[in-house]
Amino acid sequence: MATDRGHFNTRIGFILAAAGSAVGLGNIWKFPFEVGEGGGAAFVVIYLAFCFLLCFPVMVSEIAIGRKTNLNPVGAFKKLGHKNWAIIGFMGVLAGVLILSFYNVVAGWAFGYFLEMIQGNFGIGEEFGSFITDWQKIGLYGLVFMAITAFIVSRGIHDGIERAATILMPTLFLMIVGLIIYAMTLDGAGVGIEYYLVPDFSEINGEVIYSALGQAFFSLSLGMGALITYGSYVSKKQDIVKSAALITLTDVSIAFLAGLMIFPFVAYLTQGTMEGVDGGAGLIFATLPGVFASFGPTLGVVVGALFFLLLCFAALTSTVSLLEVPVSYLVDEKKIKRPVAVWGMAALIFIIGIPSLLGNGSVDSLTQFVQMNKNAEWQYVTFMDFVEAIASDTFLPLGGALISIFVAYVWKKNNLNAEIAIGREGGWKWVSKYIDFAITFFCPVVLGLITVVTIL
Ligand code: PHE
Repeated sequence: MATDRGHFNTRIGFILAAAGSAVGLGNIWKFPFEVGEGGGAAFVVIYLAFCFLLCFPVMVSEIAIGRKTNLNPVGAFKKLGHKNWAIIGFMGVLAGVLILSFYNVVAGWAFGYFLEMIQGNFGIGEEFGSFITDWQKIGLYGLVFMAITAFIVSRGIHDGIERAATILMPTLFLMIVGLIIYAMTLDGAGVGIEYYLVPDFSEINGEVIYSALGQAFFSLSLGMGALITYGSYVSKKQDIVKSAALITLTDVSIAFLAGLMIFPFVAYLTQGTMEGVDGGAGLIFATLPGVFASFGPTLGVVVGALFFLLLCFAALTSTVSLLEVPVSYLVDEKKIKRPVAVWGMAALIFIIGIPSLLGNGSVDSLTQFVQMNKNAEWQYVTFMDFVEAIASDTFLPLGGALISIFVAYVWKKNNLNAEIAIGREGGWKWVSKYIDFAITFFCPVVLGLITVVTIL
């Protein structure tokens, strides 16, 4: 029964928790470096189009599936379709496990940076490369982070997840806005803004489209059932479409603002050359400490420490949702007690994350792991990038494609529309019409095509 599984107490609690899941390292760490690797503003344009046109309807579907069934992703697809469709749920659980395994390592970096900032070590930005090779230290931070995540998840939906999100999200937002205002006053800010906002469409190729799509799904926590799971704790009074719109807007705005903050800083620190902007995962970690240093010792410590602390919190509301997916599966389908499922899964995922931890310079074969790129050439990537490419860039859009196909042709759009209508407070008609069109036609076709092309 629904009440045994826990539920969100308030509407805003659900929206904040789901927005908390969406807003995380994906927005502040991953989005800027993906923009850098994808060549700047052209990536941003594609990313935004994907978020609103493709991801938003999938988000509405996920929440509706969850609320309709009151079940975890595996159980939900089984109940609405046939037991073979549970495979979409299983893929989601697997994607969640893989994503959390590397996400937790990056959360460990953020936590480590918080401790460095407290000590006023602004030089850490230049030492980022060696900082991440210290696997014992980062492993310990990661362990602490996973334990806090498990603690919150073990407390259940209302006390744990809902409460934490309500306080932390607004604070992070204010902090980013403050930093943007400061960034705009710096020399060279214009160069950074131009890089970020004036698109050069010759930068677009298959690789850019593929990673923009993966990033859109990753950032919105879609394609793996996180929002089916959260949706299963939502009451029938909630307007799903409105909630999904608010979650999407919040997430996209924070990613957009993070870019507006970071690119002027990069321009300022590189004196307008933007050198190293395409260097990948280290972008914010290498850049921000230098900026905080310019505030002077006292203010620099306060702002720097607060920033990385809030980044940890943003990550935490995401890791909580990632862990909740396999946990709800074990609790619903395997009848395992919640605390056992929580701590067992957390331990397992931590262990699965060890190669990602070691692949940042500690172990050569994991630091230079081979992967085939889109041009069918072998290239070296870190183990973490390898897992990220499989889990977020491949599994999530594939999951999104299958979810939309499932809704349109198995569950059927009438049932989706009936579920959406419950709790819907009027609202714009064209939005409902668009969702209808997108789910039956646009999403299955476009997502299906992109995934087929990607896998081939
Ligand atoms: N959306 C989160 C972020 O941007 C990551 C995430 C992905 C969380 C998938 C849950 C599911 O940081």
